[in-house]
Amino acid sequence: MKLTIDRERLISEIETLAGFSDAEAPAVTRVVFTPTDGRARKWLKERFTEAGLQIRQDAIGNIFARWVGSAIDDAAVGTGSHVDAIPNAGKYDGVVGVLGGLEAIRGLQRSGFRPRRSIELVMFTSEEPTRFGIGCLGSRMLSGALSAEAAASLADQDDAPLEEVTGKAGFAGDLRSVRLPENYYRAFVELHIEQGPLLEQQKIPLGVVTRIAAPATLRVTVEGSGGHAGGVLMPDRRDALCATAELILAIENGARSSGAVDTVATVGTCDVFPGAVNSIPSRVRFSVDLRDINLPRRDEVMGRIDARMRNIAEKRQVAMQSQLLHADAPADCAPEVINALSDSCRKHGEAFVPMVSRAYHDSLFISRIAPAGMLFIPCRNGYSHRPDEFASPEDIARGTLILAETLAKLSS
Ligand code: GLV
Ligand code: MN
Ligand code: MN
Repeated sequence: MKLTIDRERLISEIETLAGFSDAEAPAVTRVVFTPTDGRARKWLKERFTEAGLQIRQDAIGNIFARWVGSAIDDAAVGTGSHVDAIPNAGKYDGVVGVLGGLEAIRGLQRSGFRPRRSIELVMFTSEEPTRFGIGCLGSRMLSGALSAEAAASLADQDDAPLEEVTGKAGFAGDLRSVRLPENYYRAFVELHIEQGPLLEQQKIPLGVVTRIAAPATLRVTVEGSGGHAGGVLMPDRRDALCATAELILAIENGARSSGAVDTVATVGTCDVFPGAVNSIPSRVRFSVDLRDINLPRRDEVMGRIDARMRNIAEKRQVAMQSQLLHADAPADCAPEVINALSDSCRKHGEAFVPMVSRAYHDSLFISRIAPAGMLFIPCRNGYSHRPDEFASPEDIARGTLILAETLAKLSS
């Protein structure tokens, strides 16, 4: 089998996909179920069809593109990632796993390889939490980690119910049908940029992921009292935004004082109501993303932050509602996928290092229903979730080659 990767075509497809964006280049914004996301999906499905893959999509908009193997009844080998992009993001997060997965399949096809088990490329819906506040929506539902009922109760930031949004985007059907049957995948492997600086610093081109960290996310609403910015004197104020300022610092402090650099907390959204220069903020809604590679420590920090937040709310006489959207457990990657990836690196003479993923990924949830693993490639300065995110064509092609080799192994 002479495996080749068409680097020029792959990079040009990554560039084309980056053009489906609601932000000006080089930034990419592609929020799930927007018209831009719809156009990107249409273009992707054309590429999948061109490669002779059989396409299926489910009620939440996960897209599956299958290269049917000779053992038709056997469980498939899956690969893939997401193409939704947070506001003001880059071109590579998720995209490398989808378009790299496609090129890996095309490379295998060119080499004359014929899979015994089917190889299925997946584009997961909404790995990013931008729209519904919860990440990995598609893979969560596929794995049963999020029930159809719980999914149906989600709403976007404009309070539009999930099924209204999916319906408008052209996805219909019973959400209960999204969950995959047992043993659907024999194995799953996701290619992704590292989103951290370690590979680049160590000058090692590939990371074989052994464990995936997981976040807990809160949606917090603070209600104070609004009014005229001139008329209400300071002793009489219950300003929701001033209270929020203290809450956010308590969250930062909670993560900083955990005793481990692995605990990280981020308040990435903050909506102020009514949002007028001369009106005291009466209501604020913000998100908290708290992560650690150590679950008991993350939960302990969450408990301490929560207690401190309640004190602050009481002292400032604001009402605070804190809703835990999810608190996921980290996952171990499957030894058989780790081994297949490692053997593929060795076969091609590529150096690799075992590593922990500090970002979460769809593989976190697929690992609950199938042996799953991930391959990381470096990204410049470790930058991600920003427009200057960059992975070199050489690194992308190398990762794609190792992915192809691994898919061949797992599907034989
Ligand atoms: C994924 O985008 C993450 O936030 O880890
Ligand atoms: Mn991301
Ligand atoms: Mn990603």
